[in-house]
Amino acid sequence: MSSDLTAAAGPRRRVGEAPPPELLDDGERLSSNELARLQLTRLQATLRHAYDHVEMYRRKFDAAGVTPEDCRTLADLARFPFTTKADLREHYPFGTFAVPMAEVRRIHASSGTTGRPTVVGYTERDLSVWADVVARSIRAAGGRPGHKVHIAYGYGLFTGGLGAHYGAERAGCTVIPASGGMTARQVQLISDLQPEIIMVTPSYMLTLLDEFERQGVDPCGTSLRVGIFGAEPWTEEMRRELEERLDLHAVDIYGLSEVMGPGVAQECVETKDGLHVWEDHFYPEVVDPITDEVMPAGQSGELVFTSLTKEAVPVIRYRTRDLTRLLPGTARPAFRRIEKITGRCDDMIILRGVNVFPSQIEEIVLTTPGVAPHFQVELSRRGRMDHMTLRVEARPDTAPLLRATAATAIAQAVKDGVGVTVEVTVVDPGTLERSMGKIRRVVDRRTA
Ligand code: DLL
Repeated sequence: MSSDLTAAAGPRRRVGEAPPPELLDDGERLSSNELARLQLTRLQATLRHAYDHVEMYRRKFDAAGVTPEDCRTLADLARFPFTTKADLREHYPFGTFAVPMAEVRRIHASSGTTGRPTVVGYTERDLSVWADVVARSIRAAGGRPGHKVHIAYGYGLFTGGLGAHYGAERAGCTVIPASGGMTARQVQLISDLQPEIIMVTPSYMLTLLDEFERQGVDPCGTSLRVGIFGAEPWTEEMRRELEERLDLHAVDIYGLSEVMGPGVAQECVETKDGLHVWEDHFYPEVVDPITDEVMPAGQSGELVFTSLTKEAVPVIRYRTRDLTRLLPGTARPAFRRIEKITGRCDDMIILRGVNVFPSQIEEIVLTTPGVAPHFQVELSRRGRMDHMTLRVEARPDTAPLLRATAATAIAQAVKDGVGVTVEVTVVDPGTLERSMGKIRRVVDRRTA
């Protein structure tokens, strides 16, 4: 990556650096002690709000024999019951809303790949807090007032587009609300409007990269300086691929509709060492997905969130299904970090008893010479045995003979590193389905 990114004149200056102190907001200036006090006050108010206004929480607390008054310290939160996606589905659409509908300004819904979606709502204040945390995320990524932000997260019920949009405006940026799709036009817009920042899923960024190349535009020569990538898991290897091919800083943004949307946690551009959780609004815990025990700091498990300021749909100990661990803060010392999410409990492939995450396959594919970062895993049944097929695209310049070498290398690396046997086929460039948003890497035909 060119080293003069931060030296460039105009609004590009400071990209790649920590925000200057005057750009930090009040929450970011809190000491750890001040943050803990604020969290406790907000947690107590949230438990009370949920108990008083959402029948589901009242029932759950009663069944567990706890009342909001039982929360005297942050550690007391562990005595309260969890909330799951199934709980929210059961009360679809508005059963977990804690304010009258007249106070709800906007509705979003989760992507819901299986079953009913979950519906979430926001009061005016919720929307303002959301814009604040996304603005904070954009500054942490290197965005500054005056930057143009190309938003290619989908607009609509998905929280990505509108969440990013209002955050970028709040950060004083100029928004280009491209939304997802119309890939050729996206490339044209980026070339013509010269945004410094792009917000998009990493898999759709790969689709855009191909389109840049198809149109004969050098992706390294664009105005883009920062990519704020999230909404799906992506690996360090993918970061390297995107940074090298686009000559920008690739940073991670995390969030989920049930908790707010994008902007729950964000990686800081100056450290790129995991995502700081904006803990003044979202209280994180990591629990053992099997025993439900709260894990000590640094140990991996399922991420759980309790909202601290949400009015319309407060969530208490919401089980995200996302796997990570909590680490101490670095670039924002008062806020703990989550390690880059390796996968979801429900994305885990169990192949003949071995647990496999698509991210492990991604790491291997992206470090194998001759193949592109486009792959798909298919699971099927051969007789009584599970069978995994991995299709990977060749890079356009890969000689046919090298494809076989790449396939063998990948199969061997999966066997050695993950412990499963996989049939690898290297297919022609451009033949695998491209992402238009969140990518589906695994097709499971075992139950079909
Ligand atoms: O994906 C919100 C979002 C939009 C986040 C744009 C970042 C950028 P949902 O559609 O509710 O919301 O999906 C939430 O996506 O539980 C994770 O499994 C996954 N996810 C989101 N961000 C990341 C990330 C949005 N940075 C679900 N890394 C979450 C890994 C992520 N997984």
